Amino acid sequence: MIRFENVGLRYDMGPEVLRDLSFEIQKKSFQFLTGPSGAGKSSLLRMLFLALKPTRGLITVLGRDVATLSRADLPSIRRRIGVVFQDFRLLDHMTTYENVALPLRVRGRSEDSYRQDVVDLIQWVGLGERLHAYPVVLSGGEKQRAAIARALIDRPDVLLADEPTGNVDPPLARRLLRLFMELNRSGTAVVIATHDLGLMEQVEARRMVLSDGRLAVYD
Ligand SMILES: Nc1ncnc2c1ncn2[C@@H]1O[C@H](COP(=O)(O)OP(=O)(O)OP(=O)(O)O)[C@@H](O)[C@H]1O
Ligand SMILES: [Mg+2]
Repeated sequence: MIRFENVGLRYDMGPEVLRDLSFEIQKKSFQFLTGPSGAGKSSLLRMLFLALKPTRGLITVLGRDVATLSRADLPSIRRRIGVVFQDFRLLDHMTTYENVALPLRVRGRSEDSYRQDVVDLIQWVGLGERLHAYPVVLSGGEKQRAAIARALIDRPDVLLADEPTGNVDPPLARRLLRLFMELNRSGTAVVIATHDLGLMEQVEARRMVLSDGRLAVYD
C-alpha cells in the first residue's frame, strides 16, 4: 500500500534526519513505529501522509509515485489515509460532533447522509456523552479520542497515529490500543508512532525502530 525505497530527508540545509529508509506498509497490517524523541517518527509520518516530500529516494502510495503527483491528485489519495496528530488539531469553535464530521462536510456530503455514522463512531470511541462539547472542556484523553474518530470517519485504508496514548493514563491507553486492533481486524492498516514500551509489550506486532536516522524493522 505504501512503499519507501532509499528515502532520505533533511530540513533545509541541516543534516539528514532520516537516511536510506526502505520498507513497505502492507494492506491490513499493524505496526508500531518507535525510537527516541527526535529520532524522526513524526517526520516519517508526515512523509507517509504526503505532507512532506523526501529529499531523496522513492515513495509510492497506493501505486502512485509521490514525486509525480500534482496538487490536484493529493486530496483523493489523502482521503484514504487517516491521521491522528500528536497535538490533535481539533478546531476550537467546533463541537466533538462537528470536528468529527468535518472531513465529510468539507467533501460536500449532506448531513443527512452521515449524521448517524458520526454519532456511532463517537460512541465507539467512548465519547457519546461529549458529543456536543467543545474541545476547551475536553480532557487530554477525550481530545485524543475525538481526533481518532475524526481520522476514521472517512474510512481510510490506513490509519497513522502519532503518540496516540501520549496524553492518557495506562487503562485508557489499553482501551485505545484495543480500538486500534479492532479497527485493524476490520481491515484498516495501522501505524502507531510511540515510545511507550508498556503499550508495545501488550501485542505481538511488527516494530519499526528509528535510531540515528536509520530504520530497523522487526517482523
Ligand atoms: N520543521 C522542522 N524543521 C527543522 N527541523 C525539524 C523540523 N521538524 C523536525 N525537525 C528535526 O528533525 C528531527 C526529527 O524530529 P521529529 O519530530 O520527526 O522526531 P520524533 O521522533 O517525532 O520526536 P518526538 O518523539 O519528540 O515526537 C529532530 O532533530 C528535529 O529537530
Ligand atoms: Mg513526534
